[in-house]
Amino acid sequence: MENNSNNQPLTQFILDQIRNSDGIPFRQFMQHCLYHPDYGYYMSARRRIGRYGDFYTSSSVHSLFGRLVARQIVQMWQIMGGGAFTVVEQGAGEGELAADILDYISAVEAQMYSNLRYIVVEISQDNRRRQQENLSAHGGVVDWCAFADLPRFSGCFLSNELLDAFAVDIVEKHAGELSQVYVTEKDGAFAEELRTPVAADIREHFATLGVEPVEGNRAEVCTAVRDWVEAVAAKLERGFVVTIDYGYPAQELYAPFRRHGTLLCYHRHQANDNPYQHIGCQDITSHVDFTAVQQFGAAAGLDSVYFAEQYRFLLALGFVEELLELQRHSNDEKEALAMRMTLKNLIMPEGGMGETFKVLIQSRGVKVPQLLCQRRLSEIPLEVFSG
Ligand SMILES: C[S@@+](CC[C@H](N)C(=O)[O-])C[C@H]1O[C@@H](n2cnc3c(N)ncnc32)[C@H](O)[C@@H]1O
Repeated sequence: MENNSNNQPLTQFILDQIRNSDGIPFRQFMQHCLYHPDYGYYMSARRRIGRYGDFYTSSSVHSLFGRLVARQIVQMWQIMGGGAFTVVEQGAGEGELAADILDYISAVEAQMYSNLRYIVVEISQDNRRRQQENLSAHGGVVDWCAFADLPRFSGCFLSNELLDAFAVDIVEKHAGELSQVYVTEKDGAFAEELRTPVAADIREHFATLGVEPVEGNRAEVCTAVRDWVEAVAAKLERGFVVTIDYGYPAQELYAPFRRHGTLLCYHRHQANDNPYQHIGCQDITSHVDFTAVQQFGAAAGLDSVYFAEQYRFLLALGFVEELLELQRHSNDEKEALAMRMTLKNLIMPEGGMGETFKVLIQSRGVKVPQLLCQRRLSEIPLEVFSG
């Protein structure tokens, strides 16, 4: 287990790849750093999420997040007639979101629980082990399978912070022409080179979306999103796709003021913008282009039914009411305050997870009435935040 410096075998492996092919596109470099079968950040045995890891996710902040997502999933089950229902969660991390959803459904909607299959699609064997431990109480309901082996299903396809972990390319625009970052070697260290023309799939991606970075800007592009949403649409017979992640619509992601893109690395809760350090020992992420998910999804038969900031989603689903309830049950004022601060983190626009985080819901083959997450914020009692 390594935590601090570079993983040497992985560094050597990537340098060999670079030497063998005169440089590799950034997407390939990132793919090796995160998903090399033995040494990749997500594949090796390490604590990634939570206090002793490198970053927090909403589900690791408090179980309330999962309970509110569960409330929405229960309504989806009702909308679809209340029979057999499958939840597929891809990229489940420690399994905390799954555990909170399953705890909620088993406690509140026993009939749904008895009709439920919860399938986890997880690329990392290490995470899968952790999920199996955390989900042992729901052994009869949960199963794991590779994406390719997933049967066609009706229900809900769910992910939280999956797409931001997909490998991306980096492009820059100079003198009207897009160039692409290749990772090369200089004096035994990683270096970057801008090359033209960009790969055909990058050109096609921007052409289809009708948006491109502006002159002088650097930006990421995740062409894998198209294959992903098409594959998800093909697996979903009837139901919903719920995608939670940080990101923007394309116009905002590629806005002129965003000069250096959104690529960020996380190592022990410190963010940095240097993917060429802590090789295999830090997370590398970039913000999701939600227009791409919507547009490529629409072409594959998924209708966009909801897109909003996470704070709106959580507030509409009962964040404040739940918070009041939690406070009522806590008799230690210090503990209640700490809990309030933790929970506020889920909805805080600045520095918190409330605004940059978005929730996209797509549907297929379902007539969708008003979703619970579409409740108007004016109906929510807000006195909880005073004092
Ligand atoms: C940033 S973590 C998010 C964890 C979790 N959803 C949460 O809310 O705490 C990303 C997760 O996606 C998994 N992952 C990344 N690419 C994947 C893929 N192609 N298929 C399945 N899981 C993947 C990682 O192993 C990890 O479990």
